[in-house]
Amino acid sequence: MSARIAHQTLKSRITSAEQAAALINPGDTVGMSGFTGSGYPKAVPLALASRIEDAHRAGDPFQVRVWTGASTGPELDAALAKANGIEFRLPYNSDPIAREKINSGQMDYFDMHLSQVAPMAWQGFLGPLDVALVEVTAINADGSLVPSSSVGNNKTWLDRADRIILEVNHWQAEELEGMHDIYYGTRLPPHRVPIPLTRPDDRIGQPTLQCDPDKIVAIVETDAPDRNLPFDAPGETALRIAGHLLDFLANEVKQGRMPENLLPLQSGVGNIANAVLSGLVNSPFENLTSYTEVIQDGMIDLLDAGKLRMASATSFSLSPEAAERMNSNMSAYREKMILRPQEISNHPELIRRLGCIAMNGLIEADIYGNVNSTHVMGSRIQNGIGGSGDFARNAYVSIFMTPSTAKGGKISAIVPQVAHVDHIAQDVQVVVTEQGLADLRGLSPKQRALAIIQNCAHPDFRPMLADYYDRALKGSYGLHAPSLPGEALSWHQRFIETGSMKV
Ligand code: COA
Repeated sequence: MSARIAHQTLKSRITSAEQAAALINPGDTVGMSGFTGSGYPKAVPLALASRIEDAHRAGDPFQVRVWTGASTGPELDAALAKANGIEFRLPYNSDPIAREKINSGQMDYFDMHLSQVAPMAWQGFLGPLDVALVEVTAINADGSLVPSSSVGNNKTWLDRADRIILEVNHWQAEELEGMHDIYYGTRLPPHRVPIPLTRPDDRIGQPTLQCDPDKIVAIVETDAPDRNLPFDAPGETALRIAGHLLDFLANEVKQGRMPENLLPLQSGVGNIANAVLSGLVNSPFENLTSYTEVIQDGMIDLLDAGKLRMASATSFSLSPEAAERMNSNMSAYREKMILRPQEISNHPELIRRLGCIAMNGLIEADIYGNVNSTHVMGSRIQNGIGGSGDFARNAYVSIFMTPSTAKGGKISAIVPQVAHVDHIAQDVQVVVTEQGLADLRGLSPKQRALAIIQNCAHPDFRPMLADYYDRALKGSYGLHAPSLPGEALSWHQRFIETGSMKV
């Protein structure tokens, strides 16, 4: 019997992944744990995928609806998508196989703000939640659950689901207990009250998840690592982006617009965001804090260097080396980190109150500062909006960063008009590429256009953008935000037809 399952009655519900998967029915909606490759169930989804494949071979339809925290790992999204087992998915996906299913029209996908998943699940229009399938570190004697390396929407799944399947993962460090802060005070209107968090390091909840033990129908023990992927060593482009950003922050301090230890940092996913965090290690900033969604390697480096005082998030997204470093020294990190439900880590009320510095990636920005974070050429989903909207709209300063070109220089990340809008110009205050930084605060659309073209565009595309803008200034229907509607998306059309945005 597992030492990690201290509740006597629940020990009798330990079973195999196959038997647990047999408790999930065709058409069920399953709320799964998991956020950016951390804390997702690793055995039951694989067994479910295999069951679905058997059903399909026998000619029986079998698909489920999958809700998660955000992206998961190959044992979940890839396995189920490969088996054609997902009918509908929310709220964020980065798995390439699932992405292909979505883009080929075989899977429906609801891309949504991550802070809104839990409240919308409670509103009810998403339908009932049949099963919660949640990875935990341990089950205490009183039935409370020690979360694992992400919290995501687990609180809501456990509360909402008719039946619960738990995976107890022995790979997760037992010393994770005490790191989490699970707030049980959220309500639907008209019963909402202020969330009592005023500093990133405030603890406002309890360290464990609660759930009705009678709803637990199966417990599966695993010993499997999270999907920890290595980060690229920061290249020239990432270093230049980080340099521009750090200069900007230093100037904000100099101008008296930010304190010397800055404001709570939010950092998006990906290599560029990680490089910016790494750049802070050698910066003059001290005593930093972070109120973000994901803790990446760069944050661990900052903690280790004594630059970051504490980090609050909902999940880890670590390289194998950083995960190993954390797991072997978890009790020390536990003092400096808090993992919360994503409804709280990404809550607009809290982001606005704390005054976060939001730093997110993008696919393309237009000359007026509208940002597309999700759809390549306007129609092909890459990942999803994730938490970028939660943070961008509510941040003290909202920064978007990107290399100025993509696909070997054939695509300009700065275009006359974005082919899909995730963040409107009013939510985008700074755009930074390796070419430079455009501070758009307080600028009119025409001033924004000049700042973005001159500072952010790649030299290969800058003359084309300047030419477009000059002609728009002459031929536009109005001169507030000059545009040529018949030409504004022609760069995308040219890429689709010729494989390059260049003429
Ligand atoms: N046109 C076409 N493809 C583009 C592109 C463009 N303008 N810009 C980027 N891409 C492609 C890249 O080529 C790459 O494709 P590949 O995987 O086939 O090589 C992919 O998009 C990722 O781009 P990359 O340059 O590696 O950047 P990234 O890892 O920083 O990701 C986003 C950029 C926008 C995809 C990523 O930041 C994201 O998903 N953002 C939305 C969610 C978010 O911001 N979450 C954080 C909130 S806390």
